[in-house]
Amino acid sequence: MKRLGILLSGRGSNFEAIADNIAAGRLQASIAVVISNRPQAPGLALARERGLETLCLPSKGIEREVYDRMVVAELRRREVDLVCLAGFMRLLSAYFVREYPLRILNIHPSLLPSFPGLDAQQQALDHGVKFSGCTVHFVDEHLDAGPIITQAVVPVLDGDTAETLAARILKEEHRIYTEAIALVLSGRFRLEGRRVIREP
Ligand code: GAR
Repeated sequence: MKRLGILLSGRGSNFEAIADNIAAGRLQASIAVVISNRPQAPGLALARERGLETLCLPSKGIEREVYDRMVVAELRRREVDLVCLAGFMRLLSAYFVREYPLRILNIHPSLLPSFPGLDAQQQALDHGVKFSGCTVHFVDEHLDAGPIITQAVVPVLDGDTAETLAARILKEEHRIYTEAIALVLSGRFRLEGRRVIREP
């Protein structure tokens, strides 16, 4: 059974969707540890309630690579195969990325490369796009960059606020993150430049 390490900073709904899919037998994996950089992250409490191992490693005031070395040490200790960023609001250092080549995934609430960074849903509204969505991608040391594994599209409606759009996108996030994890764990893909090509 492949072992996931979940990193989160906030609410934890993507973490919950992954945990639910594992519990329902829709994803063959186990969650080895849930790590948060924020002690107050609701996602951490949710993980604890599920009886999962949790770890809080506050990142405030710690130099990026020093922090990442701590995180990587904890992931290694638990023999994590795949690192899933689930609302983990930090850039990873080149060190972290090198330690887990093609083994770190992120989910972002826009159709990348449009609207990286914070408040992606508000950015989409402000720009006036008619469709937005979400992206699961491999993580490199740049913000919301790295080869795209899968995306889902949702319409932007005239009456949308950032909240209503975010809710529509989140539903798709919960679906495609598990699909992307399953694909990567299966190893049935190859990389051609930036393109992630599925293999039978
Ligand atoms: C999600 O919408 C995720 O796509 C986004 O943070 C939210 C976390 O929600 N991530 C980013 O913006 C990464 N740049 P959650 O804690 O309920 O999973």
